[in-house]
Amino acid sequence: MKICTGIAPVNIAVIKYWGKKDEKLILPMNDSISGTLSTDEMHAKTSVALSPDFTEDKLWLNGKEVSIHQPRVAVCLSELRKLAQQKKSGGDMVHWKMHICSENNFPTAAGLASSAAGYSCLVFTIAHALGLDSSQVSHIARQGSGSACRSMFGGFVRWRALPSELEGKQSDGEESEDLRRKQSEASNAEQIISEAYWGSMRVIILVVNDQAKSTSSTDGMQRTTLTSTLYTHRVHTVVPERCERMETALNEKDFATFAQLTMQDSNQFHACCLDTYPPIVYMNDTSHAVVRFVHEFNTVAGGTKVAYTFDAGPNACLYLLEDSVPLLLSTLVQYFPASSEISVPYVRGLKYSTTPSPLQLP
Ligand code: ADP
Ligand code: DP6
Ligand code: CO
Repeated sequence: MKICTGIAPVNIAVIKYWGKKDEKLILPMNDSISGTLSTDEMHAKTSVALSPDFTEDKLWLNGKEVSIHQPRVAVCLSELRKLAQQKKSGGDMVHWKMHICSENNFPTAAGLASSAAGYSCLVFTIAHALGLDSSQVSHIARQGSGSACRSMFGGFVRWRALPSELEGKQSDGEESEDLRRKQSEASNAEQIISEAYWGSMRVIILVVNDQAKSTSSTDGMQRTTLTSTLYTHRVHTVVPERCERMETALNEKDFATFAQLTMQDSNQFHACCLDTYPPIVYMNDTSHAVVRFVHEFNTVAGGTKVAYTFDAGPNACLYLLEDSVPLLLSTLVQYFPASSEISVPYVRGLKYSTTPSPLQLP
């Protein structure tokens, strides 16, 4: 029997992924950029046991057994086994069944990137158990949950959409299978800047509501791509240029530009959700109060010191530099007293990723 345990961080997008060109391979409509958080607080932890005596694959999520046959889990397992066979890695273990236990130490499905941490952890840990190079499997994590491919790297990470020369109509037969494989391997995440490069970056997560959202990211983005005209404008006109400007801001450590682009992108993503028909509402009154708070804070501070961003849920993620943290936290506690919807134990000060590889094996 072989047992491995891995830990994987969440990542919070500053240019959002929302919408797929290909539902099965999870190929995104646009590039996205995110920061990977340290595993100190919010993370997924996965243990995998492989044994020649196991008769079937099994999966437990947060202590409860769930189906191993759900397509996204199944595709990750089969792709990892296929790759191990190709690379002649893992020996007989490629044929052994596995028992996988995965848990998150933060709310699952609440818009805090549990699918990103969860699938990157699952793929990383199994890859490690089978002796595969974990920097080469982000395209497999992507097939578990799109955002998961970005959690395979630390620092700020860009997930690239399919290059246009690989886009094309599918036909049957061997040629199309070859094209599918090339397409699948071409949409990958890569690090733009390391955590050490901009080491003073910090993220604070404000948990407004830790309940599971009513519209999953997968369902929500599918509906947006089908119905929102604002989304078409976003994907074709806004995001390509915004990604380039964001990459420049990161390379130049230009916080004011970084923060403005981050807030604008979050706002446009949620505007697209509202433009979806029927509309999707992820932010609530408290989320909007956080938006107002950040703009007021920046005005009083005399410059853009903090950026908010909201994923598919009401919870706020604040990006800021280390020297702004004390004032931000003390002002926040006054603005949102303990009795309000954001309670103090839920304010988590997260250090930005500090390890060269965000994934650690104990
Ligand atoms: P979130 O905003 O938390 O990422 P999503 O709607 O994108 O929410 O995805 C939530 C789903 O991701 C869960 O219902 C579950 O299927 C999957 N998931 C979350 N955490 C894990 C994990 N640790 N291991 C495997 N799958 C996970
Ligand atoms: C709003 O990666 O959870 O957090 O690929 O269908 O699993 P699936 O969706 P998921 O979507 C994340 C959406 C987002 C933005 C982002 O992380 O870029
Ligand atoms: Co998700």
